[in-house]
Amino acid sequence: MNEKPDRWVAGGAYERFMGRWSRRVAKEFLDWLTPPAYWTWLEVGCGTGALTHAICLHAGPASVIACDPSPGFVSFARRLFPHPALTVMLGGVDELPRSDGGFDAVVSGLVLNFLSSPAEPVRSMKSRLRPGGMLAAYVWDYAEGMEFLRIFWEAAAGLDSGAAVLDERERFPLCHRDTLVDLLESEGLVRVDSRALETDMLFTDFDSYWVPFLGGTGPAPSYVGSLHPAAREQLRLRLRERLVPLEDGPIQLTARAWAVRGFRMDDRAT
Ligand SMILES: C[S@@+](CC[C@H](N)C(=O)[O-])C[C@H]1O[C@@H](n2cnc3c(N)ncnc32)[C@H](O)[C@@H]1O
Repeated sequence: MNEKPDRWVAGGAYERFMGRWSRRVAKEFLDWLTPPAYWTWLEVGCGTGALTHAICLHAGPASVIACDPSPGFVSFARRLFPHPALTVMLGGVDELPRSDGGFDAVVSGLVLNFLSSPAEPVRSMKSRLRPGGMLAAYVWDYAEGMEFLRIFWEAAAGLDSGAAVLDERERFPLCHRDTLVDLLESEGLVRVDSRALETDMLFTDFDSYWVPFLGGTGPAPSYVGSLHPAAREQLRLRLRERLVPLEDGPIQLTARAWAVRGFRMDDRAT
């Protein structure tokens, strides 16, 4: 797992904090990939199963093997949607399963930035593809596209100078469109392209924004969990002032992820 204090433990807490948004982005990602039916899929870092679920529902797969090193997330994903084509396994990117002849697609949602060095994981994912197979992934645009986290970290850094180094914008330089494209090209993938995946984030009220930060799973909730109760309350009040609801109640923000895909060279075709 990563060396930073990101905790990936409780499936329910992750779902309330991030899973509810990552499920929407997963569907957009698949719409972009438009994969043929009956493909064999390997998913790296499936978490609670946002992308896994979308593949099973929308891609008509022959098989899906989804892996994650968090026992809590793996059991959550297994319980949530048993599917005849799906196997959910415990394991990280350094111990990926193999398939005879290789998988048609190896994918990963919101994971690459959490791996200590992304080149080795991409190499390992590529090695599990059949010739001509597709490697595709997406990560949040932490620098400019994740309004709900931008607002959070700006408030946190205003109160605590130690918070700035934990901000995903600083921690994850990989999360830029060009950097992702360069990464896949430098690992020898061909026909690499990318796009933005966007979704609205609608919070019914301030509590539906704030309470999921108390779940302790993921970078920002891990930070909130590390605060003394008085400091946590100060942060809550600062955010309460900052987040202005629309006239009829909800708070509307936007989220953007960068998606990238490339293909393993098919030597048989040349
Ligand atoms: C932000 S979550 C994304 C989960 C899910 N893919 C989604 O879209 O909601 C990051 C995931 O990366 C996983 N992860 C962390 N280190 C990993 C590693 N070395 N190999 C594979 N997955 C890892 C975590 O367990 C966690 O499930």
